[in-house]
Amino acid sequence: MTFKPISQIIYGTAWKEDRTPELVDLAIQKGFRAFDTANQPKHYQEDLVGQALQEAFSKGLKREDFFIQTKFTPQGGHDHRIPYSLDKQLPERVQESFASSLRNLGVETLDSYLLHGPHSFPGLCKEDMEVWKSLEDIYKSGRTKSIGVSNVNMQQLETLCELSSVTPMVVQNRCYADRAWDQEVRDFCKQYSILYQGFSLLTANPSVYKIREIGQLASKYKVTIGQLIFRFSSQIGVIPLTGTTDPIHMEEDLKIFEFTLTEEEIHLIETCSI
Ligand SMILES: NC(=O)c1ccc[n+]([C@@H]2O[C@H](COP(=O)([O-])OP(=O)(O)OC[C@H]3O[C@@H](n4cnc5c(N)ncnc54)[C@H](OP(=O)(O)O)[C@@H]3O)[C@@H](O)[C@H]2O)c1
Repeated sequence: MTFKPISQIIYGTAWKEDRTPELVDLAIQKGFRAFDTANQPKHYQEDLVGQALQEAFSKGLKREDFFIQTKFTPQGGHDHRIPYSLDKQLPERVQESFASSLRNLGVETLDSYLLHGPHSFPGLCKEDMEVWKSLEDIYKSGRTKSIGVSNVNMQQLETLCELSSVTPMVVQNRCYADRAWDQEVRDFCKQYSILYQGFSLLTANPSVYKIREIGQLASKYKVTIGQLIFRFSSQIGVIPLTGTTDPIHMEEDLKIFEFTLTEEEIHLIETCSI
């Protein structure tokens, strides 16, 4: 699998509601070129992300310089605003949701299309494989450069890799420090060359902020603890997602590649909460 993102940090567009265009526009101005959204009006305004992207393209920025990712959300993840007809079967729902994502974003192809999360837990069910087959069809049609899955555990990912004809190219998961930052799934992804994206790196780990050695490391590099966590994540192969609404934090997040942690420091952060 040769798929590579063009940006090593992704701007996430969840929970921004009416501020979505303004914040996506600001993120573009600051330098972000990778964007994550979902066709899930409960949490994301995908059409408003599209509005900001179109604005950027109209000012001369090129589509090929962007990494655009969105998701198919199964019925259980929606409120009353469902972007497909419930009287259709699962494959048609995926196709309908995908087509409306392209319209919302104003693009002809995506860089990455994700299944927002499996229907079942802890394993996968027939419905999950049916949805995955539809994502494979979209991938094979050339309308997305990659397909992947979010909110998956090890068992689900192994099953998906075993049963699929197109194996996932992207995983997007929440990273808890007390689970060694999702180490089991990360290691599996590394082994199968699956791109791993991490969210809630800051919000899921408030205890990390209180560890003395973490504060000392941030001081050593003259960065914030947020920057330290994002840099650490990128060095262990986790592409960080940031949904910051603060222009200063946007700038700080883009500066994480200006310093490099040592092996020992990475080990310290990796094991600080387990
Ligand atoms: N697949 C899924 O199910 C799923 C679930 C959740 C999220 N996501 C994706 O991941 C994206 C990010 O979500 P998230 O859960 O990680 O939370 P987030 O929306 O990025 O929230 C980060 C929080 O940390 C604060 N913060 C402090 N310093 C920061 C810094 N340097 N950089 C960034 N934030 C800083 C932010 O406040 P300020 O705004 O004041 O900076 C904000 O309150 C979402 O927008 C979405 O695209 C996906």
